[in-house]
Amino acid sequence: MRLRNVKNKEEILSNNPYFIADGTSYFGKWSEVFGNTNPIYIEIGMGKGKFIIENALKYPDINFIGIEKYDSILAKAVTKIPEGINNLKILRLDALNIDQVFYKEIDRIYLNFSDPWPKKRHNLRRLSSKVFLEKYDDIFKDTCNIFMRTDNRDLYIYSLESFSNYGYKLNDISFDLHSTEENLITTEYEDKFTKLGNPIYSVVAIKDKS
Ligand SMILES: C[S@@+](CC[C@H](N)C(=O)[O-])C[C@H]1O[C@@H](n2cnc3c(N)ncnc32)[C@H](O)[C@@H]1O
Repeated sequence: MRLRNVKNKEEILSNNPYFIADGTSYFGKWSEVFGNTNPIYIEIGMGKGKFIIENALKYPDINFIGIEKYDSILAKAVTKIPEGINNLKILRLDALNIDQVFYKEIDRIYLNFSDPWPKKRHNLRRLSSKVFLEKYDDIFKDTCNIFMRTDNRDLYIYSLESFSNYGYKLNDISFDLHSTEENLITTEYEDKFTKLGNPIYSVVAIKDKS
């Protein structure tokens, strides 16, 4: 994502009721943050937040957390959230530290249009690499399930292999998601690539907790 500096980002974030600057104090206690025991779904690398905000509005009985590491992007996301949503939080976090913030409490991870890291020597920075899958093991409550979408074929094939090698079963594989699914909640990147005529690849990866 191209990073345009938002000048008053600190002020926007510190005054926003949805924003959580440091999630470590809620480790294992995110149900308390929401005040209920509903399932918790997270999107890692949510960008400007369209997908997670629309999901929160559509599914009030699920708690959603959008995760992003850059303040300028976080500031853009929080300003788009309507008032009075009780099932959404926006968290500043580098996913490398995700296992310091959640513990056995996440029901679903969304990886939407994650950064592709095209150079082979950077493969382990991919959010679907073994480095991250090991961390995700600790944060899932019961079954591990990862919903992934991307326009990037190399990242997609890499991720299918990575999930499978790590013991995930691959469900709902699609090399052109939009040709079969209608009325999907889409992301900003998804809309951009779909307009360009690019196919969207998707998979639901599922694994029992080890
Ligand atoms: C290509 S954008 C996609 C944004 C959004 N999911 C979409 O589909 O429109 C990837 C986003 O992931 C964020 N990101 C990348 N690595 C991350 C990490 N380790 N932790 C948190 N966010 C990350 C980037 O800052 C960027 O906003």
